[in-house]
Amino acid sequence: MSDSISRRHFIGNTAAGTAAVGLGLSGLKALADSSPNNKVVVGVMGLSRGAALAAGFAKLPNVEVKYLCDVDSDRIPALSKRIEETSGKAPEGISDFRRILDDKSVDALVCAAPNHWHAPATILGCAAGKNVYVEKPCSHNPREGELMVAAARKHNRAVQMGSQRRSGVGLQEAIQKLHEGAIGRVYLARSWYTNARGSIGTGKVVDVPQHINYDLWQGPAPRRPYLDNVVHYNWHWRWHWGNGELGNNGVHTLDVCRWGLNVDFPTRVTSSGGRYHWQDDQETPDTHTVCFEFGDKGQITWEGLSCNKHRAGFVTFIGDNGTMEIDSNGSYIQYDKGDKVVGEGKGPNRGDDEHLANFVAAIRNDKPLELNAEIEKGYRSTLLCHLGNIAQRTGATLNCNPTNGHILDNEAAMELWGREYEPGWEPKI
Ligand SMILES: NC(=O)c1ccc[n+]([C@@H]2O[C@H](COP(=O)([O-])OP(=O)(O)OC[C@H]3O[C@@H](n4cnc5c(N)ncnc54)[C@H](O)[C@@H]3O)[C@@H](O)[C@H]2O)c1
Repeated sequence: MSDSISRRHFIGNTAAGTAAVGLGLSGLKALADSSPNNKVVVGVMGLSRGAALAAGFAKLPNVEVKYLCDVDSDRIPALSKRIEETSGKAPEGISDFRRILDDKSVDALVCAAPNHWHAPATILGCAAGKNVYVEKPCSHNPREGELMVAAARKHNRAVQMGSQRRSGVGLQEAIQKLHEGAIGRVYLARSWYTNARGSIGTGKVVDVPQHINYDLWQGPAPRRPYLDNVVHYNWHWRWHWGNGELGNNGVHTLDVCRWGLNVDFPTRVTSSGGRYHWQDDQETPDTHTVCFEFGDKGQITWEGLSCNKHRAGFVTFIGDNGTMEIDSNGSYIQYDKGDKVVGEGKGPNRGDDEHLANFVAAIRNDKPLELNAEIEKGYRSTLLCHLGNIAQRTGATLNCNPTNGHILDNEAAMELWGREYEPGWEPKI
């Protein structure tokens, strides 16, 4: 139990109802389960996606966003003003997240920095006694995910991955129906992502802009010269820092597929695709199809198109007695065996606010495992992305140990299980 939590007393939840305006059912429940009189203090690291998270935390009852941390100083002032307008208090703008870890009054680190930061920051956070909300994919490689689970257990911290659909009321209802047998025995989950991304061109080595601390941006990743087409966002398409579209957006749908199908680790992973659209500096596939088999429990497929937005679904479950289509906001349509519509649900959202409320409730109640996307679940879904990418990069069909997902009899593929670190930044449990 952290100092800040152990000092606390639960003194009722009278403000819960008022405070939960705008949240869905599970958010209301999460808030009702925890006393908003019990203040939770967070520091947010990485302020692009982190800007939405900071705004989301700031509107929860008695949650203080004490720090806004970014290595790009341009990203702090406007957001700080916005948070002040919501909460009445301006957060402190900082560039080094270790200030958050050193502050005993902080309960949680929120990590929305690029993927190469997720595990090292989470592990340091847990060791400093902080709970951690870490964006998806939870790690840059499989070994880091295993270390994150170990760190959460060792320090008994709440670690939630930012796969917010786990907290969406529509999604929860749909998955419950599946688990109750609405379409019979479910044996296939199909998933998709499409976008119309532009080219990132060919990068030139240039001086680091004054407003960016590139050394801290790189952190645990071995040093590379500063290119003018990587920071911000385009690191997603370079293996040194990112995990391609599969890790960027595939993780959301694969998490839903794994949840609905009730499976953990795959037995076999195959991948095909490539970079077909732009000739530029991107390394990760823009067109990618991956199949994950789970022995006799069925199969998950994911198809990603980064550069052609032609309409596709989100997730479709196939069972021996029907079909269920689910969209990104948790609306669903249920079909019978004859493909006739027999049920539907209306979402209504992807669960962002509820997911933050669930994290705050776990901290307040000192129940670190009562998280909708607890790190062990988050890691298992993230692992599917890593395995899909490893299969793609090695051109091999991966056979995996169904108890832990480790790749069997393929040394070249297992080489990609972990990574090299910048000296001094190796994650340690
Ligand atoms: N759950 C979701 O729906 C969702 C949506 C978008 C992004 N994300 C995730 O959020 C993460 C960030 O993605 P993005 O699109 O915001 O990327 P981005 O590159 O646009 O922004 C990352 C930010 O982190 C900052 N940063 C880098 N190193 C830092 C450090 N050491 N300390 C503090 N700040 C640092 C960068 O300066 C930048 O402002 C990714 O892992 C992504 O997958 C999740």
